[in-house]
Amino acid sequence: MDAGQRIVQLRSDIERYDHNYYVLDTPSIPDAEYDKLFRELQSLEVQHPELLTPDSPTQRVGGKVLDGFTSVKHAVPMLSIRTETDTEAGGASNFDTRVKNALHSAEDPVEYNCELKFDGLAINLRYECGVLVQAATRGDGETGEDVTQNIRTIKSIPLRLRDCDAEVLEVRGEAYMSRKDFNSYNDKQRELGLATLVNPRNGAAGTIRQLDPALSAKRPLSFFAYGLGEAKGWTLPETHSAILDALKSFGLPVCDVRTVAKGAHELVAFHQRIANERDALPFDIDGVVYKVNSLKLQAELGFVSREPRWAVAHKFPAEEQLTVVRDIEIQVGRTGKLTPVAKLEPVFVGGTTVSNATLHNEGEIRRKDVHIGDTVIVRRAGDVIPEVGGLFCAAQRKQAILHFAGRRAMDVEGLGDKLVEQLVDESIIHSLPDLYRLDVATLAALERMAEKSAQNIVDALEKSKRTTLGRFLFSLGIRHVGETTAKDLARHFGKLETIMQAGAERLLTVPDVGPVVAQSIVGFFAEAHNREVVQQLRELGVHWDEHEGVTAQVLPLSGQTFVLTGTLASLSRDEAKSRLEALGAKVAGSVSKKTDCVVAGAEAGSKLDKARELNVPVWDEAALTEHLSKWENI
Ligand code: IVH
Repeated sequence: MDAGQRIVQLRSDIERYDHNYYVLDTPSIPDAEYDKLFRELQSLEVQHPELLTPDSPTQRVGGKVLDGFTSVKHAVPMLSIRTETDTEAGGASNFDTRVKNALHSAEDPVEYNCELKFDGLAINLRYECGVLVQAATRGDGETGEDVTQNIRTIKSIPLRLRDCDAEVLEVRGEAYMSRKDFNSYNDKQRELGLATLVNPRNGAAGTIRQLDPALSAKRPLSFFAYGLGEAKGWTLPETHSAILDALKSFGLPVCDVRTVAKGAHELVAFHQRIANERDALPFDIDGVVYKVNSLKLQAELGFVSREPRWAVAHKFPAEEQLTVVRDIEIQVGRTGKLTPVAKLEPVFVGGTTVSNATLHNEGEIRRKDVHIGDTVIVRRAGDVIPEVGGLFCAAQRKQAILHFAGRRAMDVEGLGDKLVEQLVDESIIHSLPDLYRLDVATLAALERMAEKSAQNIVDALEKSKRTTLGRFLFSLGIRHVGETTAKDLARHFGKLETIMQAGAERLLTVPDVGPVVAQSIVGFFAEAHNREVVQQLRELGVHWDEHEGVTAQVLPLSGQTFVLTGTLASLSRDEAKSRLEALGAKVAGSVSKKTDCVVAGAEAGSKLDKARELNVPVWDEAALTEHLSKWENI
């Protein structure tokens, strides 16, 4: 046998062993033997580089670290499915009725294929002449991202199909992280004192968006095929279930938990069966999917907007819920091991009422920063003890970050709600200081984020570090401390340390600060977590002029109250406001006897009338800009 023949033989053997191990879950050769064959193949390929092919099992991890992902236009759009929210009986029969009404001539009962709804990330695998040439995310359904390198690291996905040389065969399915892989990854991270994944879905999404395929390979993912995209040079079977059988015969992982059912009552039975078995599954699902089995009928049914009329998802109750931590107790295990347990406001999650959740260890409490009274995500999967998945609810964190970055706060241009949503959902950002730890590569790896925009965000973050004490105080989101109060505090005390240490009584000496506000400020800085956030932000470079409060008193417009009205052409109202304030002026919302000057832009209305009535001086825009530039240059 020459080297070429041996290489072919080794590849096909290794592919078979991989398939047995990763797809069929039945290892067929001892690890040491497998490693020996694998090394033999590697060394033959090194000796004969001309024989190396991309579909060789040695080529799963080999790609370079990417700068970002390129876009892929899907040959056939990747649609989503309608979700039926009614009870199991209602949901299934609503769907069955809709199908029968739309078909008129339909066979009765209609035949369906029932499947699981895997909770991961939709992926399109493109095979040309049996070889995997591209893998893409769903994206917006029309255009996704090329994640071929990372998908190649998923061992259960064949790089070459068996007995299938169709010119084009696109296979659609879900990349996911099994519960076992999720738990062992988190256990390892905990041992190392590193961040854990919130849930397997985030784990899968984060892994697929990794720019370094070597890192991706360290977080094992799995895959289930559930449908087709483009198919050329392949005769389609007549039913969806037969397609799944064919995909399985090509060596693709297809979940065996599926069944062909007739009529609504059999759909209900499937739903009930899976609800009972859900905990025992080795992966997370969030429901079941019913699909009309006949492809001919599917074609007849077609689509409504972007959803097929022939398929529906029927969800289960969520395995994650929000609740409040009532207490934290230390439990002593049989072996003497101490485990902190969160006592929760009881919440119905994953089919049972949960009132305790493990916090694993003290390090984890600190890292997740769980306090009594916090809102937390409780996750329940399988028969494991529920665990607290993250600090506050994601929604709260998103709001806090958006507030912090807002125009009147730290003013980070371009950090909008879509981006914050992604950053929080993908566990990239947990708290405010994490914002200043973002780099271009991490941002550019996000869906629909170009390198240029990533750079702009990093630049905007850098720029925002230079701020004022007033803005910084406002950005922290202390309850009852609005923009004006924050500025008043800054002016009055001048230094952040003084504010942080001031008791309620001293705070009350600031005009307009009442007992509720004072108490809220004291309470905020009494929390170790908040002091830590402030310290980290400063360590990361957030700074301001320490004497802001002192100098403000001698600024040219100190003690003067301005009112802005109408539209200004050359600058925004916010800009005018902040420039006036930088000169020491107070900008008020309404005209009174105390107003020193009203700036009236185009189409000024009642405020201008009022100013005239009270004999308050009125400037037009030109007067304002002239004065501003004069004073700013002093
Ligand atoms: S079929 C045209 N089958 O659910 C029909 N989708 O909105 C296309 N999903 O994110 C989808 N398990 O990735 C289908 N057995 C299954 C599924 C499934 C999970 C996901 C899919 C997409 C969403 C559909």
